[in-house]
Amino acid sequence: MNILYIIAMQAEAQPFIEHYGVEEVKDFFIPLPCKLYRTTITGKDGKESILNVVLNGQQHGSDLVGCEAASVATLSAIERLHPDIVVNSGTCGAFLENGASIAQVYIGNACMFHDRRVPGDDQWGTQALGNYPVWTGAQELAKELGLPMGKITTGSSLDMQPCDLQIIKENHGELKDMEGAAVAFVCSLLNTPILFVKSVTDLCDSGAETFEEFSRNLALASHALKEANVRVIDYLCNL
Ligand code: ADE
Repeated sequence: MNILYIIAMQAEAQPFIEHYGVEEVKDFFIPLPCKLYRTTITGKDGKESILNVVLNGQQHGSDLVGCEAASVATLSAIERLHPDIVVNSGTCGAFLENGASIAQVYIGNACMFHDRRVPGDDQWGTQALGNYPVWTGAQELAKELGLPMGKITTGSSLDMQPCDLQIIKENHGELKDMEGAAVAFVCSLLNTPILFVKSVTDLCDSGAETFEEFSRNLALASHALKEANVRVIDYLCNL
């Protein structure tokens, strides 16, 4: 099994990178800022799997987040690393009214964009929302690992405008992020299965200021993400 993780922020990936002791493959993506970490993992039957962890890298002195950077990293990484599966892992916002809590880890069961408002006929509307397929084994994995599932909606902003919330609610979105649907878009073009593993840093309906809540919970949520991803990798490597 050749596994490719796409993770936006170094802080989200660091506990995971340290757990596996994955080595950085320096300058692999030059001239792109993306970073590759790579190691091999031996499964229960002695079969070797490859674990690739790709980060978007930095620009303007901060980690690149959002759809553009995620699309560039995913496209380049799939073309060069030929994974069997892409795992988009990271943090997200969620909703108290759905019973979410900080550092809860979810497996995505669907994904779409919530901030692409294109008027016109059904085709333009369908393209705008995306609704890309997720890996058919996601439900079985979530059941086996005892993790809840949720629908991911992706937008280009950390905050949430009323028009975003309207689309999220109309489409029963549960996990709000900035990369998921963009990664899934590229996977849909390149016929590569996608799995989402997302940990909650903030509750969009808590009334708290989102960036403050996100920053306060980032380390805790990233630790929970690592714990879940170790189990996800163990599952995938022994399929
Ligand atoms: N990542 C973590 N929290 C988020 C939020 N509320 N919206 C978008 N992306 C996020």
